[in-house]
Parts: sequence; structure tokens; C-alpha cells
Amino acid sequence: MGQTSASFRQEEHPFNESLSLSEVISALSFAIDLTEGAVRGHALRSCLLGMRIGYEMGLSSEQKSSLYYALLLKDIGNEEMIGIRCDRGASIVGKLGMGQMAVEAVRSIEEHWDGTGYPKRARGERIPLLARVCAVAQHLDVFSMGRNADVAIETLEQWSGTWFDPQIVRAVMSLNHRGSLWTHCSATDSNDITRAAVLDLDPQQQQRLDDRQIDRICEAFADIVDSKSHFTYRHSMGVAELAHGIAKRLRLRTDRVQLVRRAALLHDIGKLSVANTILDKKTRLTEAEWKIVEKHPGLTRQILEQIGPFREIAIVAGEHHEKLDGTGYPNRLMAPDLSIESRIVAVADVYSALSEDRPYRAGLHSSEIVSIMRSLAPRKLDADCVDALVALVAEEQEIEQKFEPAGIVVEELARACA
Ligand SMILES: [Fe+2]
Ligand SMILES: [Fe+2]
Repeated sequence: MGQTSASFRQEEHPFNESLSLSEVISALSFAIDLTEGAVRGHALRSCLLGMRIGYEMGLSSEQKSSLYYALLLKDIGNEEMIGIRCDRGASIVGKLGMGQMAVEAVRSIEEHWDGTGYPKRARGERIPLLARVCAVAQHLDVFSMGRNADVAIETLEQWSGTWFDPQIVRAVMSLNHRGSLWTHCSATDSNDITRAAVLDLDPQQQQRLDDRQIDRICEAFADIVDSKSHFTYRHSMGVAELAHGIAKRLRLRTDRVQLVRRAALLHDIGKLSVANTILDKKTRLTEAEWKIVEKHPGLTRQILEQIGPFREIAIVAGEHHEKLDGTGYPNRLMAPDLSIESRIVAVADVYSALSEDRPYRAGLHSSEIVSIMRSLAPRKLDADCVDALVALVAEEQEIEQKFEPAGIVVEELARACA
């Protein structure tokens, strides 16, 4: 379990450490690889393979920089249908401010050299060059992980001129021949080693992110998590708004308010690993399914911890299902373990979850939710945070502060807030 939010000493970890775009995106690409059907570490390995090809082909520095982020984010679209996935992925890459070349690379990654691909059946050099490189890199990783590196190379050669650009295949053959294609790309390489190699290849290592850029990235990833299921289409954004409002009402310092908002935006990022068949299930979850759901806060922490200056955000976000009386998960923490920032995110999460529709019930009315939350404070939820939330909701919705007790059962409450 390690450190908790209450034992975290901020002085030892100043937040104003500088942060590069590649540090954030490479960590969050790990989250994308947690989605169903994906192979862990795929984005990082594809980035290494694709960038080596890019260097071999003598791409310009602008091209290399766009290629780098296109490779890390190519599977961000989070959709079953190829055409929609590419378009959605491209639009998120655009929102992240990665530039038009990266956007086009992601949009056209499923096109084939002979014109048999998606979405436009584009042919030959009409397919953006970076998309052609990304397609080869993803093929190499998928085949080397599914079978082995030799099979990946053989199939690449076989499909040269049909699926793949022959010029790029030649660059791969030359790298492979010299033994410099696969370094840090095997199944036995740890995520840390592969990621360190990816960070070394960042063409813009010196470029540091400002606060607005960091917020924009957190918002984009909140959007990716929310779009996983239509029941949660605004959940993370909603939790962030409420948590931000509570933190301000409790007069937290500006930098603490910012930390609360970012932790709230990213709190459910570990949920990308939970299958939709579980998230959208209309009936009671089995014990095995619950075990999977209960892992998501730990994964959130694991993903965010990879970003040095996000250490505290990782801890706070990973505690969003803990309760003050030790009945929460994943670590059954108690009140003295949980900081005010962590308590705020937990309260905002419960309110948002209960207000949203779920597969097994409709969203509750705010008066009902407030009544439930009052009954959970101060035993499970922090009373000051709940008071601040009630005041916030009352102010926003101008509802009467007369609340009837609601008849929601405890198990249903737990499910709603998962
Ligand atoms: Fe959660
Ligand atoms: Fe949540």
C-alpha cells in the first residue's frame, strides 16, 4: 500500500518540478493499453519501433516529433468500429494540441498501401507518410508479441506492396539486419525500461509543460475514461467540477485546489481496464466481477505514479473509494490516513455517481442524494466536505434544504459508486 495521502509530505516533493509532454503522455499511454483487447506496453513498444524507422528514413525533426505522439496515442479512440475509432482518436490527438500531422497519422493508420484499407481506401503516397510508418510499427509489435520477431518480419515482407509501403519495409529490414530494431521491445523488458527508452527518444525533451497544458491533458484523459460507457459520459468531468467547488468553499490554497481538480479528473483512469460487460451489467455483479472492479483505484495510482510530479495526485486519486471508517477499498484505510484533498474527491465521486443513470437504476434526484450523503457523514464521508457539497448544490440548483430520507440499500449504493 505504501504512503497514504495524509502521510505524504509535500515539502519533500515540490510540485513545481518541471514536466515534459512525453513524460505525461507515455505514462497515460499505459492506461490506453489497459483497455480490452490491447496488449500491455503496446503503445510504448510501437513508439520505439516507429521512431527507429523514422530516424532510419531521415525524417525531419518536425515529422519525428509528430510521429512520436501519433505512435503513443494511436489507440486512444477507444472504439470497436475501425473508422469511428480512427476519427475519434484523431480528434482527441487534435484536442491535446499535437498538431495536424499527428492527427492525420492517427486518422489514416488503418489505410493500406494498395487501397484496401479504412476509412478512405486511400492508396500509396496519398496515405500520409507518418500513418504508413505507424501502421508498420503497430504490425511489428502485434506480431512479435502474438508470435515472435521472426514472424513479424516475415509477414511484413509478405505484405510489402499490398498492406505496407515497400520503402518503409526496406528501412525495417536494414534496421533488423543491423540488430538495432528490437532493443527494449521484447516481452521480457519491463515497462520501466521500455518507457525510459521512449523518453530518451523524445525529440522535444527540453520542452516543458505549463499549467494550462497539464490541465488540458488531464481533461482529455478524463474525456477518454468517461466515453468508455455511456452511463459515465460526464462522470470524471462532473467529479472534477464538484471537487473543485468543494475545495474552494473549504478555502484550500490555490495549488491544493488545482491538485484536487486534477486528481478528480483522473480518478477513474484505472477503470479503462474494467470490461464494459461488467460496467454496463444490468444484474448483480458476481464476486469475481467485484474483485475486478475493486482493482481500478490501485491501477489509477499505478498509472499516475509514473509521472514524477503527479506523486500526490496519484495517491489522492487512488483513494477515492476509501471510507473514513475503514470499509472502503482497495486498502481499507481509516480517517487518519486520508487527507482533506482525498476526502473531497471521495465526496464528489459519491454525489456524481448517484446523480447519474446506471444500467440497473435511474440517476437520483439531488435531494435524495444529499439525504443519503448526510447519513454517510461523519462515519464514512467527511462531514465538512459533505456540508460544503450541500451548500454548493443548494446554491447551484436553488433547491430547498428540506430532505426526505431515501430508501436506497447499501449494496446498491456501493455498486453505484464503484
Ligand atoms: Fe472509481
Ligand atoms: Fe468515479
